Amino acid sequence: MEPTNSIWKSTVRTRDFTPVTSDISTEVCIIGGGITGLLTGYFLSKEGKQVVIIDDGKIGDGETCRTTAHITNVIDDRYYEIERIHGKENAKLAAESQTAAINAIEEIINHEKIDCDFKRVNGYLLFKPDEDADELQKEYEACVRAGLQIEIAETSPLESFNYPCLKFPNQAEFHPLKFLNGLCEVILKYGGKIYTNSHAEGIEENDEGAKITLANKSVITAKNVVTATNSPISDYLAIHTKQAPYRTYVIGYTIPENYIAEGLYWDDADPYHYIRRYHDGEDEILIVGGEDHKTGQEDNPEERFQCLDEWAYQHFSQLKQMKYKWSGQVMEPVDGLSFIGKDPENEKHCYIATGDSGMGMTHAAYAGILLKDMICGYKNPWEELYNPKRKSLWSADEFIKEGVNVVAQFVDYITPGDESNVKDIKNGEGALIRDGLSKIAVYRDESGTLHKFSAVCPHLKCIVQWNSSEKSWDCPCHGSRFDKMGNVINGPALSNLEKIK
Ligand code: FES
Repeated sequence: MEPTNSIWKSTVRTRDFTPVTSDISTEVCIIGGGITGLLTGYFLSKEGKQVVIIDDGKIGDGETCRTTAHITNVIDDRYYEIERIHGKENAKLAAESQTAAINAIEEIINHEKIDCDFKRVNGYLLFKPDEDADELQKEYEACVRAGLQIEIAETSPLESFNYPCLKFPNQAEFHPLKFLNGLCEVILKYGGKIYTNSHAEGIEENDEGAKITLANKSVITAKNVVTATNSPISDYLAIHTKQAPYRTYVIGYTIPENYIAEGLYWDDADPYHYIRRYHDGEDEILIVGGEDHKTGQEDNPEERFQCLDEWAYQHFSQLKQMKYKWSGQVMEPVDGLSFIGKDPENEKHCYIATGDSGMGMTHAAYAGILLKDMICGYKNPWEELYNPKRKSLWSADEFIKEGVNVVAQFVDYITPGDESNVKDIKNGEGALIRDGLSKIAVYRDESGTLHKFSAVCPHLKCIVQWNSSEKSWDCPCHGSRFDKMGNVINGPALSNLEKIK
């Protein structure tokens, strides 16, 4: 059978708690039971705050179980680019926050005795020797100015990348779900409460705090609300014009023991690739990721897996068998840095953390530290750097490019459907069908029954697209995703695709 699950979900169970069934009042409510929500909950509950964490699924079952868990301060947009957009001092602050995040994760694991295969390893940034020699030097100098530990290594430990590269000591790796499961125990120990299968349908701010209404009509009243969903559901427009959703693909291969030296690796290709290894209890696994594209804008995701598979076989001669295969979503901010702080659309008591830029592990930890400081009223030097309201003139070209891309998606209203007849949709697949002036999202289940939904995304009305590898409906505009039955699984949309009888 084809491998379809992430290595993390295949080796550790995601945790379930009881759902919210009656009204609750708390100091802080965190929406999102992924790594960002849990780390924020950890720091706040340790500080003595009364914390409630809710998730509409299980803990870590969103993007956290789809990461490759590179815990790193190597910003994939490059430090020289962060310097160009934000200035040298801010690049230094960004490096400081990333490094502090790695240290904080290690400290928590040691202090709370969380068994999650955490290990310090080296990171290697691989540049093509002829084409990218200047890039290597430019990035090296920017990293030195930013205060990072770095050196130019004569060669990387990988057989097919035996040329000079940048080496970053003291990066780290772990099993993200083991970490999350351990964090749950610790949050409960500090008095926090965790609820799963509790879908937030609306957030309303008032003078004293905010009110979160859940799908079952229970209400959570909180003095402060943190939205730690991959794409914020509390914010309707402001943030979504400043970041774009991308899908990324990952394959895990069994390899001979010690065939690959431990470490984190990234190349400089376009699209780029990232690598690490993990022992899943039975086999040594090489994890290879990359081939990113904008969410909902690829007709054939299987082709991306094929490209990744070909790339892996070109670069590694001893791959044995494909054991895991999955994809995930990252939010790319137009200026390369996360958005963490007061929600621009609900500024009194609501906070957001988004724009992980493919560095979700460190993003989660510095977001947790910063949000804890803001909610507790402590000063934090990173507050302005990650302010969600910031505007940068030097990222205007990216801002315009992504804006034009979103507008271009509305052409889907007048294009034909994927299939002209529902009869052509195979069992277990979905497709868009034109019906007069509208488009219908049609899914045929394994028994042949058809399920029909409006293809209009409830967020800002773009047309969703079928994702055949994840069996989901993905919105190409701001990253909302819906399962095959039209239920929302990723914001900013708050509601499901409308059912059609
Ligand atoms: Fe914004 Fe769909 S996510 S329109």
